[in-house]
Amino acid sequence: MTDKKKVLFLGGDGIGPEVVAEARRIAAWFLEHGLNATLSDGLYGMSQYRIDGRLISVDVLMQCKQADAIIFGATGGAEIEALPADVIESGGLLFLRKELDLFANLRPIKAIDALRDASTLKPNVIKDVDFVFVRELCGGIYFGTPRGIETLPNGQRRGVDTQVYTSGEIRRVARVAFELARSRNKHLCSVEKSNVMESGKLWREEVQRMQAEEFADVELTHMYADNCAMQLVRRPSQFDVILADNLFGDILSDCAAMICGSLGMLPSASLSAPDERGRHNALYEPIHGSAPDIAGKSLANPLATILSFAMALRHSLGAAGDADLLEQAVRKALDDGARTADMAGPDERKLSTVGMGDAVIRALEELSAPSAQ
Ligand code: IPM
Ligand code: MG
Repeated sequence: MTDKKKVLFLGGDGIGPEVVAEARRIAAWFLEHGLNATLSDGLYGMSQYRIDGRLISVDVLMQCKQADAIIFGATGGAEIEALPADVIESGGLLFLRKELDLFANLRPIKAIDALRDASTLKPNVIKDVDFVFVRELCGGIYFGTPRGIETLPNGQRRGVDTQVYTSGEIRRVARVAFELARSRNKHLCSVEKSNVMESGKLWREEVQRMQAEEFADVELTHMYADNCAMQLVRRPSQFDVILADNLFGDILSDCAAMICGSLGMLPSASLSAPDERGRHNALYEPIHGSAPDIAGKSLANPLATILSFAMALRHSLGAAGDADLLEQAVRKALDDGARTADMAGPDERKLSTVGMGDAVIRALEELSAPSAQ
């Protein structure tokens, strides 16, 4: 029997704990149905800060490094933003991404039939949309130095950020994108602004060279980031895999979220390079953030976190069949009319966070019942 996979749940801040609790119930359901894993929980964010003045304890950080999959809720909000810089630098989300070397961020964008009317885009525009962003997550302007705010001799203040990429950083994330495209429809669109940025020129050259050397079977196109923003709302069905740097990937993936009708639907996976045994650090999180305005009210949509757990099943827990079943259960719950406030029409009944978790578990029971086979 293979080793049990370790899954660590970190609720974090805002609505994080509520949505993670639902993903955890789903995980427990899979455990009862044969998934070979252990589940544990840790504190992260303000809940930890109130104990010892840090956002993450040494122990939880170590658990993160040993886990096969971290299911992360959210971080952020006014309290976090008011913390001293050194607390953020030694425990914030960017620290965690860097510390675990989670350089490849996968953000699938898939139109969901049942939510057609929740999208701001026309049904014929979002029809058949199914693509994945591969966003670089440990480099670029998020981490580049020099950075800071300084006062100039003339009394003006100057803010500086640095966009910087090495060929190695570009290549390791491009490899993930090429391999993903190879397993899908074999089309990769690489995004940058090589018309104005040196790092963009390098990005384009390196990606192009990799295609010629190793991925001739994948069709590669290049697109300027501004054009990509336009194409995402003009004809998003043209994309299969989009490769982007840290900042462009951040912006473009929020833009594309509207295809699915709600930010509350979008999962993500952040992965490090695999070790000799094929294990990587992996953090799975909804992309919606901490939504402090609705925190603690059981209003949040847990589906992005539940779908993030599905990604964990597929990419870290060796349970692709379970991942398919869970994604099917989410679609079924939606087809059966389950809606949280973020996606409900004016006359539709709105479920609580827990109510949506119940609806997914009911769908799992129905889909896995012997008569459904
Ligand atoms: C995201 C978020 C983060 C980012 C924030 C919370 C730092 O917007 O994961 O998309 O900018 O990377
Ligand atoms: Mg973002």
